[in-house]
Amino acid sequence: MCGIIGFSGSLEAADVLVTGLEQLEYRGYDSAGIAVQSKQGIQSVKAVGNVGALKEKLKEKVFHGSCGIGHTRWATHGGVSEVNAHPHQFGKITLIHNGIIENYKEIWEEYGAGKTLVSQTDTEIAALLFDKLYQGKPEETIKKAVSILEGSYAFCIIFEDIPDIVYCVRKVSPLVAARAKEGSFVASDVTALIAYTQDYFVLPEETILVLKQDTLYLEDLDGNQVEPEMLHVNWDTTAAQKNGYPHYMIKEIHEQAEALRNTILPRIKDNMPNFEAEQIPDSIFKGIDQIKIVACGTAMHAGMVGKVLLEKRVRIPVGVEIASEFRYQNPIINEKTLVIVISQSGETIDTLASLRLAKSKKAITLAIVNVKGSTIARESDYVLYTHAGPEIAVASTKAYTVQIAALVLLTMRMAYVSGMSDIEVIKKDYELLKLAEEAVHISLAKEEEIKELTNILKEKEDLFFIGRGIDYALSCEGSIKLKEISYIHSEAYAAGELKHGTISLITEGVPVIAIATQESVYAKMISNIREVRARGALVILITQEGVEVEPSIYNYHLTIPKLPDEFTPIPTAVLLQLIAYYTSVHRGLNVDQPRNLAKSVTVE
Ligand code: F6R
Repeated sequence: MCGIIGFSGSLEAADVLVTGLEQLEYRGYDSAGIAVQSKQGIQSVKAVGNVGALKEKLKEKVFHGSCGIGHTRWATHGGVSEVNAHPHQFGKITLIHNGIIENYKEIWEEYGAGKTLVSQTDTEIAALLFDKLYQGKPEETIKKAVSILEGSYAFCIIFEDIPDIVYCVRKVSPLVAARAKEGSFVASDVTALIAYTQDYFVLPEETILVLKQDTLYLEDLDGNQVEPEMLHVNWDTTAAQKNGYPHYMIKEIHEQAEALRNTILPRIKDNMPNFEAEQIPDSIFKGIDQIKIVACGTAMHAGMVGKVLLEKRVRIPVGVEIASEFRYQNPIINEKTLVIVISQSGETIDTLASLRLAKSKKAITLAIVNVKGSTIARESDYVLYTHAGPEIAVASTKAYTVQIAALVLLTMRMAYVSGMSDIEVIKKDYELLKLAEEAVHISLAKEEEIKELTNILKEKEDLFFIGRGIDYALSCEGSIKLKEISYIHSEAYAAGELKHGTISLITEGVPVIAIATQESVYAKMISNIREVRARGALVILITQEGVEVEPSIYNYHLTIPKLPDEFTPIPTAVLLQLIAYYTSVHRGLNVDQPRNLAKSVTVE
């Protein structure tokens, strides 16, 4: 949450900062601002709204300088207003911040006497603290400040009397940095740097990063030089652009077959899943007596699919836990528990805290993560990277289907290692997984049909998704996708549970998206669909091809290719993503930047 960028080099800083903020906008778009060190001193411009609004303002105010900082905000502390927009300035300090300062009140009480604040933010109080501690030595100031500050933070700081240098420090909130021929860069995410270089490093915690025009360096809090651990991204600027699509979301929906291939193929050896390359030994699957899958939102919904697969094929108890709950529940886990954390960003604060909790209880931890070098990836015992490439739209699509693919691969390997499935069965599974991947194209071919049928959803106020087993997990995902970008109230229900209360909400014309792809519970699903139809529901039915369906039970019927039950989620997910996308488009909403949301949730 919140995107930050800093630059010192040979280009106009304002241009670099604004272009970088456009790439980081998915992290928050309540307000944006930049500060540049110019001949006239530090000059800043801020605007409520997204980076477009900032660009408009910058047309009126041109300033030159080749060092500066920029911020795009997701409001946490203090409302959405220009005074609360970053950068914040206090005395000689101008800074930007991603995170939350928990002890801002105590800091204010101790250091604020006689001072006045202009904003309602914790960040301005942090600026006050830095200013109070500053005696001409930035590194010393930062060291003292971090010993006082509590909470999570990534700061980029410029000092009024020190030209052309940006100082950075972080705790929990992410920061990556890079050196290129144009200068030194720091940002919340590598997407903001990719126009200049594909080589970067993650700023270690408790380290001060100093960005100068011709160099950058790191030192720890004792003043020792630290060598950065370099990383390389294997995608370029085009991967983080819309490339002719009207929105990132639809582009990312279309990228799924490729993302799946990139995630699956490197883990296949002799037609079997194999995790040797990532050094995930089979031994970790052998001595465990339970699995916990911990994640948030869409990643948690992928975990729900994983639970069904693992319990069916490996016959081991699997619990799926909401990370924000898990971390405060004193969970019963130990060295015989495999904790699988799932996260696209690898920075979600609750998932990270759950991972740390699991490690403190000696559980074996394995992360399924998309962003290379992210905190969750670095801190877990083992990592299985998904290779979806950058996901920019706030609503997660390709990251979800590759998380499912990773869970399918893990299930296959564990079923093999535990002796639950022999080698021939696993090889057959791989063939089926390839078919599921190909079925993405078949779902995508229904785009026009879905565009048309979602016209009937655009005026609705409430909507239900129902399903059983894997299809219930898919219902949860279909529902979150639809509500987050269309603002239509929607609920996901286990189909058999509906009549225990919620069926009272089904009246004439209420849409029910009924997902009935699971052969094992198909007859039960059909009965549940009849129940809602009898009460006037408008039913959009999703089944496998070739099943017998009475036309009277649905208004619209979408199909996926015929596949065994475990392999249906990927093509089904694509249909649900298209339903959400076109409903939002028909309602004329900002698909990629839904209100109140941000891509990477780095605050509690
Ligand atoms: C919904 C969505 C969110 C994320 C959730 C976890 O479309 O994107 O629900 O799935 O915030 O994020 P990660 O996967 O980055 O931990």
